[in-house]
Amino acid sequence: MNANSEIQIKQDVRQFYDEIGWQEIGEGVYQNARYEDLRPVSLEYINKCHLRVCQHLSPDGRYMLDAGSGPIQYPEYLEYSRGYQARVCADISIVALAEARQRIGDRTSGGKGMFVVADVANLPFDQDVFDGVVSLHTIHHLPIEEHSQAYQELYRVLAPSKSAVVVNGWQDSSIMRMFVKPIKWKNRMRKNIKRILDSSFRDLSTAQRGSTQVTTKGTFVNKHNADWLRREVGSLMHLEIYVWRSVSVRFLRAYILPNLGGKWLLRQLYQLEERFPHFMGEHGQYPLIVLKKN
Ligand SMILES: C[S@@+](CC[C@H](N)C(=O)[O-])C[C@H]1O[C@@H](n2cnc3c(N)ncnc32)[C@H](O)[C@@H]1O
Repeated sequence: MNANSEIQIKQDVRQFYDEIGWQEIGEGVYQNARYEDLRPVSLEYINKCHLRVCQHLSPDGRYMLDAGSGPIQYPEYLEYSRGYQARVCADISIVALAEARQRIGDRTSGGKGMFVVADVANLPFDQDVFDGVVSLHTIHHLPIEEHSQAYQELYRVLAPSKSAVVVNGWQDSSIMRMFVKPIKWKNRMRKNIKRILDSSFRDLSTAQRGSTQVTTKGTFVNKHNADWLRREVGSLMHLEIYVWRSVSVRFLRAYILPNLGGKWLLRQLYQLEERFPHFMGEHGQYPLIVLKKN
């Protein structure tokens, strides 16, 4: 891939988040949340998975970097920087940073935030300055050629003896693969039924919703697997793979149902993940990658 197409990808990603991803569709809910399972049945599990980040971060310090912060969209995200003097939010989307500022306030006016438009693969910070670093669901928006560089940048700005936490989905999860076929079949059935119902009740349902649903295509995403990570990044720095969340949103929506013990099932799954964090992280959908600096 040449430099021009890499720049184009970043411009497209930025435009997507500025114009679509970080537009609010409800109070405190962004269009981007359609990639998450926000149903009450999954809430406890999703929240606990978000909080796993805290287990690997230094609980306090001077500056914490949130690389690709977005608007700090979930309340649990605030916990990561609770013990820090400042949370530095870096993002290529100015809309993300404006929303994040509303959430945590600006250091210059008594809040906790500092806000920098920046590219995670070329961070404008000195080395060793952050006591904690998080980067969630961001590196996957870079061209694959820049993934390793982004990890190196997060590591470079991290202070010695501290940890960075990176979360990005795997390209392919062996655990999720087992469940995909039935989901595909179920979705095809559902689509067919919906198409039939929609054609009969289109006018009625639009009037009842009081709004028109916007469907968008999403933006550029490029993922890798554990072998790639160990080879390209693990050879340059010390890293460990834990579990963030072993199941995808697709899995949750298909298998976790409120009236069929969904909450209970998710509690069992969470316990399993806690018991086998490395296995579930490597083979599940979302690893939590810890970079430790000596
Ligand atoms: C999926 S969102 C995740 C936001 C937040 N970390 C979270 O977990 O809710 C990805 C974020 O990364 C930002 N982003 C994408 N490419 C970036 C880059 N090259 N440098 C910095 N931020 C980037 C986007 O603007 C967006 O806010």
